[in-house]
Amino acid sequence: MRVFRTIPQVRQELAGARRDGRSIEFVPTMGALHAGHLQLIRTAAGSGGLTVISVFVNPLQFGPSEDFEVYPRDLDADLALALEAGVDVVFAPPAAEMYPSGQVQTRVEPGPLGQILEGDHRPGHFAGVATVCAKLFHIVGPDRVYLGRKDAQQVAVLGQMVRDLNLPVELVACPTVREPDGLAMSSRNRRLAPDERREASAIYEALQAAASHAEEGEASAARLLSRARRVLDQHPAVRVQYLEVVHPQTFEPVDTVSSGALIVVAAHVGSVRLIDNCIVGTA
Ligand code: PAJ
Repeated sequence: MRVFRTIPQVRQELAGARRDGRSIEFVPTMGALHAGHLQLIRTAAGSGGLTVISVFVNPLQFGPSEDFEVYPRDLDADLALALEAGVDVVFAPPAAEMYPSGQVQTRVEPGPLGQILEGDHRPGHFAGVATVCAKLFHIVGPDRVYLGRKDAQQVAVLGQMVRDLNLPVELVACPTVREPDGLAMSSRNRRLAPDERREASAIYEALQAAASHAEEGEASAARLLSRARRVLDQHPAVRVQYLEVVHPQTFEPVDTVSSGALIVVAAHVGSVRLIDNCIVGTA
């Protein structure tokens, strides 16, 4: 496994691999790797190409009052996990390599999809994600990019960017990896106190309550949401920011679920903000 800190070096390495006829399989991350990331990496590594990850905590996608400063960073631990999972190349640039003047003037603006739900509560977040991903895709030149469905709106935003800007990459969306009690794996989970950690599993429990009601044939979004609410109401430590049933591409709320519809949630537990989603539209 080779680790690069600069853009010219990683470009040179990947140009060599491309000349040798290898495909480039890319997993962008912000580090603090956990089993969710490792699943993406193993899926990428299983494709037979060159497996590349980036480790970069992107300041552009954090709001001024968000957790950029306290976001967990441990490159040595990440490198050990990456090696074990089959990574060939790690691109771990310092902030000054990605944003030499401290900021970018040119941004990728995802439009309405980037301004609802997560985008509504985190203004500028998806422009930050899309901009850094556009930069990373241009630096790495991947054939395929592996993304987690845990961040479903991020998958939709990046899918839209790839289509709108004709980027020659294929996005591969991978299932959400969960803790045994259902809590979606997240780098932020490690900031939960033990009692908060226990309460946080109510988020998944609520989504599951809605999903199994949908499986019984309930198609009314309002009734699915009230099932989920009933669970969350028993857990006042979980402070819901939004809970919606949405269309899987537009993320606009729907009244009646159809194929692929998602129930999406964001909640604070203590000072930690968590998101999750699951499919409620089966047929
Ligand atoms: P990060 O939060 O580090 O996540 C990197 C990738 O891992 C994302 O595609 C995310 O959806 C996926 N992931 C995280 N938790 C997961 C889980 N429990 N199950 C499955 N996949 C999971 O998402 C980002 O970084 C950034 O926004 C990034 C795309 C790197 C741009 O900065």
